[in-house]
Amino acid sequence: MSVARRIGPPGRVTTVLAAKSGCGKTTLATNLAALLGAGGVRSVCLVDLDLAFGDVANMLDIEPQRTLADGIPLTGSLHQSNVHTVLTTTSAGFDCVLAPTEPGEAEQVPVALIGKLLTKLSWLYDHVVVDTSAHVTVHTLAALDHAHQHVLLTAPDRPALSSMRRTLDMLDMLPYDRIPRHVVLNRCDSRIGLETSDIEEVLKHQVAAELPFAWEVTAAVNIGVPLAALRPDHQYTEALRRFIAAHIAAPRFSRDPQA
Ligand SMILES: Nc1ncnc2c1ncn2[C@@H]1O[C@H](COP(=O)(O)OP(=O)(O)OP(=O)(O)O)[C@@H](O)[C@H]1O
Ligand SMILES: [Mg+2]
Repeated sequence: MSVARRIGPPGRVTTVLAAKSGCGKTTLATNLAALLGAGGVRSVCLVDLDLAFGDVANMLDIEPQRTLADGIPLTGSLHQSNVHTVLTTTSAGFDCVLAPTEPGEAEQVPVALIGKLLTKLSWLYDHVVVDTSAHVTVHTLAALDHAHQHVLLTAPDRPALSSMRRTLDMLDMLPYDRIPRHVVLNRCDSRIGLETSDIEEVLKHQVAAELPFAWEVTAAVNIGVPLAALRPDHQYTEALRRFIAAHIAAPRFSRDPQA
């Protein structure tokens, strides 16, 4: 596989994080990657940093041939000319760096590889989206360090919101004050009994987007195609598209000024 070097400023690295497992991070990351690609207008790479339990390959119905583990020997020499060693092309319109699959490989991934990889990828792709694990690891921190923006996903229920507030407190202690932070609510439904204003009060943070609860999201996962590709008109897709337009795909990062 050959990956063309981009012309212009580096692409935008977006790291997706949640305080609790099962919030919908991988679903969001895959749909974000699909929408950011905009049918080939922009180049996108999705990096699965859930090293031990990565789900990106499952969600895209891919049998991994290359994974991040193939990059371990390249940690000291990773370059734009050999980064293809860890890349997988998908039919969803973006490339991926899949999580290791063999037992014990996740533990061998050096933290130093993450920063180097994300920097190299940002020169090759318009957008790099990073999916993370349920718990904050040193690899997650490396991805947060190298991101241009953080997307923080939470369910709209009090335990999840309380965990998210603690995560925000943790992030406040790190030198991320210049990195834009977007809080996204997933699985929203008007019947849950919490208004957005209640949620923002608990979080002490503005909500950037509300993604609806929809069974079609899981149905799409089960056939291995992002819902955004399957149902461009679905309310989940529409909500994500509005979020991207408002917060993620800043025009100056677009290769095509008309896009
Ligand atoms: N908006 C939604 N509506 C309905 N189901 C959803 C929605 N978002 C995600 N799901 C479902 O929730 C489940 C968990 O999603 P996902 O695997 O993306 O979570 P995760 O945060 O990546 O989990 P983990 O912490 O284990 O990595 C999946 O079955 C997915 O289809
Ligand atoms: Mg996941």
